[in-house]
Amino acid sequence: MHDEPASRPGDLTGTPRALATEAVHAGRDDLARQGLHAPPIDLSTTYPSYDSRAEAARVDAFAADGADPTGPPVYGRLGNPTVARFETALARLEGTESAVAFASGMAALSAVLLARAATGLRHVVAVRPLYGCTDHLLTAGLLGTEVTWTDPAGITDALRPDTGLVLVESPANPTLAELDLRAVAHSCGTVPLLADNTFATPVLQRPAELGARLVLHSATKYLGGHGDVLAGVVACDEEFAGQLRKMRFATGGVLHPLAGYLLLRGLSTLPVRVRAASANAAELARRLSADPRVARVRYPRLGGAMIAFEVYGDPHEVVSRVRLITPAVSLGSVDTLIQHPASISHRIVAAGDRHDAGVSDRLLRLSVGLEDVNDLWSDLDRSLGPC
Ligand SMILES: Cc1ncc(COP(=O)(O)O)c(C=O)c1O
Repeated sequence: MHDEPASRPGDLTGTPRALATEAVHAGRDDLARQGLHAPPIDLSTTYPSYDSRAEAARVDAFAADGADPTGPPVYGRLGNPTVARFETALARLEGTESAVAFASGMAALSAVLLARAATGLRHVVAVRPLYGCTDHLLTAGLLGTEVTWTDPAGITDALRPDTGLVLVESPANPTLAELDLRAVAHSCGTVPLLADNTFATPVLQRPAELGARLVLHSATKYLGGHGDVLAGVVACDEEFAGQLRKMRFATGGVLHPLAGYLLLRGLSTLPVRVRAASANAAELARRLSADPRVARVRYPRLGGAMIAFEVYGDPHEVVSRVRLITPAVSLGSVDTLIQHPASISHRIVAAGDRHDAGVSDRLLRLSVGLEDVNDLWSDLDRSLGPC
């Protein structure tokens, strides 16, 4: 876990701050001087100005490099002050210059792919497994991209002159397979590496420090943390962030300000939630590993609150029997969720590709929450059925 000072100057005095401090204060540095404690929610879709010459200059400046306009954003699709607070905070936590928020994780990924394709770099190299819809977006070439699937050792050989992106998840959805991100980044040469950090969160892993140029989150998961916000975000350098803001402006996948507010609030408890849920998960993984009804357990070396396990019996029966645990797709909420990837999160991936990526039909994915671990185990134990 990252308790050491964050790599960027943390506050306006330049004093470095630890991750737990950034989680609570980043994106809020100006509040006390404004006489505020909770961040205001700016619901404006447009921003009045009597000086249209100045507006023209501000729009030109945005069109040039996608830099945040100084002053109000002109129009809600260019940016929003409440969302910007969340972006600032997430960038601090991931140790990047900037972050750009979107309406969902898939909207964030779409913007990255479109930004690369717009420069003629339509080829993507990717390592399975990935979240099912990410796999589908690439496999189906829905955005005009072409994918080469490879294992980590094959990344360098898979690169082509038109490769615009290398895409990985670690720990990966749903098997929790882990990659050596530093080695992967090295294999990419000058091609940007996008690491989906949804499962680890910056509390456990900061891919930008390991060489990833782009760090993507389905913010719907741990960053929001309460199962009530759909959102995505990409943390990256300011140059790439400008391209993403321009793509967001042109294609419209913006995050609602209320969601930005909830995400900022979610970040403030992120380190505490991730640590507590991880402790629960480590204990459940230990009990599952010792259970004769369980064929295989995957729990990341990195830690975290996700467990993947295969049962000898029928996984559908296990899902049907849970009572405390919520039988639902998604993850990263305060309550524990279980789902059968082959039926839901990875249903859209062809069965052969799923199996080759280690997603067996017996696999269950558990997102461990903050309940008492013994209550969770009682529910799991009963749901696993007779020995
Ligand atoms: C690892 C990962 N990346 C991306 C996504 C897509 O995010 P969203 O559902 O917010 O569009 C998901 C969703 O489950 C995910 O698990």
